Amino acid sequence: MLLHVENVLTPDQVAQCHEVLAAQSWVDGKVTAGEQSARAKRNLQVPQDAPAARELGEMILGALGRHPIFVSAGLPLRVYPPLFNRYDAGMGFDTHVDNAIRFAGPVRFRTDLSATLFLSDPDAYDGGELIVEDTFGEHAVKLPAGDLILYPASSLHRVAPVTRGARWAAFFWAQSMVRSDEQRALLFGLDNAIQALSLKVGQGDPEVVSLAGTYNNLLRMWADV
Ligand code: NI
Repeated sequence: MLLHVENVLTPDQVAQCHEVLAAQSWVDGKVTAGEQSARAKRNLQVPQDAPAARELGEMILGALGRHPIFVSAGLPLRVYPPLFNRYDAGMGFDTHVDNAIRFAGPVRFRTDLSATLFLSDPDAYDGGELIVEDTFGEHAVKLPAGDLILYPASSLHRVAPVTRGARWAAFFWAQSMVRSDEQRALLFGLDNAIQALSLKVGQGDPEVVSLAGTYNNLLRMWADV
């Protein structure tokens, strides 16, 4: 499932990211890439252990934890501390897949979901689309600053070369309680239907209660916590 999550950050929070990130020393993005993807990667990143990156990362994680769409669609168990990257003119990232397992300090976790949180206004650069491949073909994604794209970490993806301006973003991975993308998509669809139905007939309606029971039983069967 490829999902556009709107308004993860407010315009003020995006402005705060820009102010903090502008003062950072950026390094070659190959530092967090695996051997295969390092060859494909041409971008800049803020070092993972920079205090400013950790502070902004906390702000983003807080916003995500409160975002009902992210929580319902991702069913996150662990979210990797967000990293920050930048593609200036001439930079890009050729087709690759993300590493299956990552370490956050001593914690090892599986990457089920990849996420890119756009921090630059789409008018501020040309190119720079995130291109994700799935069974329906290729999807080019370029979102307003503050919006996020969530996609299966198993997807082949790339960042088209930036030809003008600069594209700044936060990116991270999450381990979901539900490993299967299909099962997660089904739960998300069911949750949406329950929310919509309960708006019409009320939360205590027997059909809503019954569907909520089904949702929980599916989650109980599939969750890996
Ligand atoms: Ni990637």
